[in-house]
Amino acid sequence: MTPIYPPEPFRIKVVEPIRLIPPEERELKLIEAGYNLFLMKAEDMFIDLLTDSGTGAMSQEQWAAIMRGDESYAGARSFVRLEAAVQDVFGFKHFVPTHQGRAAENILAACRVKPGQWVPSNMHFDTTDANIRARGGRPANLVIDEAHDPENRHPFKGNMDLAKLRAFIEKYGREQIPFGMITVTNNAGGGQPVSMANIKAVADLYHEFDIPFFIDAARYAENCYFIKQREPGYESKSVKEIAHEMFSLADGMTMSAKKDAIVNIGGLLCVNDDALFQDIKNELILREGFPTYGGLAGRDLDAMAVGLYEGLDEAYLSYRLGQTAYLAARINEAGIQTIQPTGGHGVYVNAGALFPHIPNYEFPAQALAVELYREGAIRGVEIGSVMFACLDPETGLWHYPKLELLRLAIPRRTYTQSHLDYVADTLANIKDRAHSVSGYRFTYAPELLRHFTARFEPLALEVASA
Ligand SMILES: Cc1ncc(COP(=O)(O)O)c(C=O)c1O
Repeated sequence: MTPIYPPEPFRIKVVEPIRLIPPEERELKLIEAGYNLFLMKAEDMFIDLLTDSGTGAMSQEQWAAIMRGDESYAGARSFVRLEAAVQDVFGFKHFVPTHQGRAAENILAACRVKPGQWVPSNMHFDTTDANIRARGGRPANLVIDEAHDPENRHPFKGNMDLAKLRAFIEKYGREQIPFGMITVTNNAGGGQPVSMANIKAVADLYHEFDIPFFIDAARYAENCYFIKQREPGYESKSVKEIAHEMFSLADGMTMSAKKDAIVNIGGLLCVNDDALFQDIKNELILREGFPTYGGLAGRDLDAMAVGLYEGLDEAYLSYRLGQTAYLAARINEAGIQTIQPTGGHGVYVNAGALFPHIPNYEFPAQALAVELYREGAIRGVEIGSVMFACLDPETGLWHYPKLELLRLAIPRRTYTQSHLDYVADTLANIKDRAHSVSGYRFTYAPELLRHFTARFEPLALEVASA
């Protein structure tokens, strides 16, 4: 019998203590940080679900690989080992390591995006969005409408809307679209997977117009496991075979290895095109480092080479997706809405539904992030109007995202089921006093990626509910 929530396929050999600081101290820490949890110290967190990026626990094999790291500047053995793994798992013609995902995005955007050009995707993650904008480009999100309905149980809510994509390409034309993307799984839309059928159709559409197709592969292994579980015809294929099929459809990929390669730092940029690869190497040398280390230490390359295989392990993937499903089920039992079906790497709590009295421009999901810390020293991240509201340069109007979400991202192989129970119980306590929670306003906000450094102050409840 396969358990609904498979237990950890590992046991614990090293422990890292965590402590719960008292409520009065938490209140002071919140004020000091301008109510921005990115500006708080990890030592003041009891359970840190800010991100699953780079926060996972490495295995004994990865730590052993770190000891084998070759720190030669050029042509290190570590690079050769990583090259073999990257070739085996992804199969692209060329690759460079980068220090993380956004570095790969920056290099790709620097090499190909010109001012005024568009880059469509199902949904760009914030760093991809910002890297395109930083080159004067314009990101476009063309995910299916079901993605915006938190109750809709479509099995592949990360899918691209093919009709919207065709209309978009026909409107702007090949010259205005240097490349197209798709993000697997769709982090900004709830960690929702994309089906193989959709990826194929997207690839065909881009290629029909001669537009290169890139996959943002941060969580490709989780996406492939969802395909195995949910898409007819893939039940008996291995996750690695599914990954091969997926990447054979693309012309390249960017990847933050801090997710499905289970490393604390690292990224990849892979391409098939020889001329583009030459440009990438030149840009990489300027920004990151020589192409055989790309801003990483040799030991990091070795940890990635091992992690790429561990991230594809099916016992691990079924435990991992089970852990996310368990946390969501416990939160739903408390009567709190989360995005359905539960995604791969985190639970996305519908803060807009929990705090209907807080309008989007007073940041309901930021308010929930603050309450979760206040109540239980738990850190989540706002994925709502703080992160994604933006001024449309053409109309001068503010665009707000359709959902106000608090993401509770689960670091890989790090927390136990009782930690997750504590998170669900803490949220249930907040629900009991939800009507007394107020919204926030910025006291400082930068132009791009404002969630990282913004500062806030709470609004009086009368103002928030006026
Ligand atoms: C889908 C996706 N793409 C890109 C990135 C950027 O990766 P990094 O944080 O390694 O720069 C992230 C990070 O969270 C992500 O989730």
